[in-house]
Amino acid sequence: MILTNCEGRVGVNKAREVLINNGSSLDAIEQGIRLIEADTTIDSVGRGGSPNLLGEMECDAAIMDGSNLLAGSIGALKDYLHAISVARAVMEKLPHVMLVGEGAHQFAQEINAEKADMLSDEARIKHEKWIRENVSTDDMKNWPNVSLAKYAWLSGKDYASGGTVVFLAIDAKENIVAGTSTSGWARSYPGRLGDSPIIGAGLYADNRYGACACTHNGEMTIRTSTARSVILYMKKGASVKEACNEAMRDLLYLHEGQIGAVVIHAIDKNGNACVVSSHDLKEKSSYYLWKDEMKSIEHKQAEVIKL
Ligand code: GLY
Repeated sequence: MILTNCEGRVGVNKAREVLINNGSSLDAIEQGIRLIEADTTIDSVGRGGSPNLLGEMECDAAIMDGSNLLAGSIGALKDYLHAISVARAVMEKLPHVMLVGEGAHQFAQEINAEKADMLSDEARIKHEKWIRENVSTDDMKNWPNVSLAKYAWLSGKDYASGGTVVFLAIDAKENIVAGTSTSGWARSYPGRLGDSPIIGAGLYADNRYGACACTHNGEMTIRTSTARSVILYMKKGASVKEACNEAMRDLLYLHEGQIGAVVIHAIDKNGNACVVSSHDLKEKSSYYLWKDEMKSIEHKQAEVIKL
């Protein structure tokens, strides 16, 4: 079984092929996400994604193995094409769960991860236009050595359209895995981490119950530990749909700070799926679902539960 959000479109066939050929859910998710990271037409993940306020690409990714609760995560990784593979290597080669910034870069180098110029021409042009249109004349004189905080708030207003790729999968051995990858909030404060690399917020997997991953405003799902909450609600007896609804209700309690759209994707260990969105984001809250018994991958729309 595979569940991926709209950004996963170009990787879902690959992930399905891995599972059909008896591959593991870890491989299916890594292989699927690598295609999205390399696709420059997707403006929220990997090469072609959106840079921070300084025009730098900082990518986040994570993977969690529900069979043993091992997890690997990478934050603010620069200059490497496949953050998801570096995250998997953190899980498999290090005693740690999470690396960020310079250490992430050093580790990517150590494992000979593929280097790349992550800022596409389209993303650079879009970034320069945003700076021209939004930075004050005074600040422009000293840019970027000015107070960036107000520009982070400003860029957050557009963040409803931001994104991430998330994959959830169950393989023939009934191992459940969750994976995420993103270039994060477009024009965020440098060094900002969203929920995608935060185990328990942006993703969680546990073979005993299921898996969950979130997209859009990571600041919100970090504050309510959304992905882990969904799993805990299922542990306490909720169906996957009840668990997602309850986690969405938790988000309702947030009134200050960055508030915007959140989409929650979840599966239970029996292959039941649920995707709920706080807003009608049209295509941006659609998802792809494939189960063994399905002839083809289905493209579906999240249920909207308004915040
Ligand atoms: N949900 C992705 C992020 O906030 O960066």
